Amino acid sequence: MPRILAIDAGTTGVTALVVGQDARVQARGYREFPQHFPRPGWVEHDAREIWNATLAACREALSAASIQAGDLTAIGITNQRETTVLWDRATLEPVHNAIVWQDRRTAERCDALRAEEPRIRARTGLVLDAYFSATKIEWLLESVPGLDERARAGEIAFGTIDSWLVAKLTGGRVHATDPSNASRTLLYNIYDRAWDPALLEAFGVPPEVLPEVRPSSGRFGVTEAGAFLGARIPVSGIAGDQQAALFGQACFSPGMAKNTYGTGSFVLMNTGPTAAPPQPGLLVTVAWEIGGQICYALEGSIFITGAAIQWLRDGLRIIGSAAETGPLAESVPDTGGVYFVPALAGLGSPHWDPYARGTIVGITRGTTTAHIARATVEAMAYQTRDVVEAMEREAGVRLPELRVDGGASVMDLLCRLQADQLGVAVRRPEVKETTALGAAFMAGLAEGIWSGTEELARAWRIEKEFLPSPDHGERDRLYAGWVRALGRARGWAEPA
Ligand SMILES: Nc1ncnc2c1ncn2[C@@H]1O[C@H](COP(=O)(O)OP(=O)(O)OP(=O)(O)O)[C@@H](O)[C@H]1O
Ligand SMILES: [Mg+2]
Repeated sequence: MPRILAIDAGTTGVTALVVGQDARVQARGYREFPQHFPRPGWVEHDAREIWNATLAACREALSAASIQAGDLTAIGITNQRETTVLWDRATLEPVHNAIVWQDRRTAERCDALRAEEPRIRARTGLVLDAYFSATKIEWLLESVPGLDERARAGEIAFGTIDSWLVAKLTGGRVHATDPSNASRTLLYNIYDRAWDPALLEAFGVPPEVLPEVRPSSGRFGVTEAGAFLGARIPVSGIAGDQQAALFGQACFSPGMAKNTYGTGSFVLMNTGPTAAPPQPGLLVTVAWEIGGQICYALEGSIFITGAAIQWLRDGLRIIGSAAETGPLAESVPDTGGVYFVPALAGLGSPHWDPYARGTIVGITRGTTTAHIARATVEAMAYQTRDVVEAMEREAGVRLPELRVDGGASVMDLLCRLQADQLGVAVRRPEVKETTALGAAFMAGLAEGIWSGTEELARAWRIEKEFLPSPDHGERDRLYAGWVRALGRARGWAEPA
């Protein structure tokens, strides 16, 4: 019986799923790993801790499925994107903590390069922001003594977390990535589909450190028995987490879109085999490459949605667990005029304002924790509307529906509000771990477990559908307040 092991190496933890030929999840494993915050605005991971969490999550999933590693047909990998690791090729030891996508330490470096932005955008489809890998690599090469020379001598490898895991899984034999991950580095030309010498030059990155870019679905290598649970298993799929979720949501044709409500929220719309020119406020990105066919997507990256719920829990302590948010927010009919703009790490799409900060407005004597919780949920829907409207404007299309997933999408209230704000149906699938499922699909397609995307589209099953309310007056009145609140949050912090 064919079985795929999907590894979802996320920002806060690693999930491992055993997926069968019927596209159902047979077993799962999960391990959280530590977040390191050495200074305000800095976020780091220890890549060795990610590897250990990966091994533990995989062991747990295999044991829950009562199978051995040798019973697996293939492995698929999906990962938090942009997060940057540099390691010693000979020893596979990281030379520094990984710098995480949320890290803002290179914001000023991006400001200094601002004149170059049009040229960079025209090659990468991205905006010039500390979010992406290039300035993180540059920072590491400049900050770790002797590293730049070692990199130029070919001793050092760069990778996003997918490349790091493939290197560890194969005992250092393979140094590779896929175009969905490469397209998030600011070093990859998505129109030429190659690492771009002019960008490498601009960011001072030596080509010797780069991984090979291979199709998202295809054999990357075979695990080394000594390195991975005693078995030799093909590693046959790689995609960045948001692109994998688009795939796991079976958004295979142009115009189909999904939103994942996790730490942040990422709206991706399939735009087919031709890359759009750069779009104001949005990102043009590679969705995947399969069987010689490339597929592009338009993306809106919202940095903080579910993380604001974590802040209600850990910072304000007005809830004990994330699961209390929905019931607390539903205990009041509205926010009583309160708006929460959760710009806790600046704002991403469509504003790209690294100096925006979190703002709560409209508080009165009657305001309670329930109103704040509801404002937190409403903010997820408003931020998504901002992105979707930018997307519809730029792509000149109207969304047919929005498929949703991620930890916070379990809240019916959120899905209802989202349907109202967008005026389209919001559809939630049975399998909510669409990120890992997408990675399983990539690997399974490469190994011939599934015939093609048509078979996978039939396997996508809906759990619940939310239809928009016909009352547009209410929705627009609420949204107008959001737009005013947003104005208060913009440009708040002084550039350092
Ligand atoms: N029952 C719940 N109700 C509301 N929100 C929830 C619930 N469970 C989880 N969340 C929110 O969902 C988020 C986690 O979702 P998810 O696991 O999809 O995140 P993620 O960004 O993919 O994380 P990672 O990058 O580590 O994979 C948390 O920020 C949490 O606030
Ligand atoms: Mg995730």
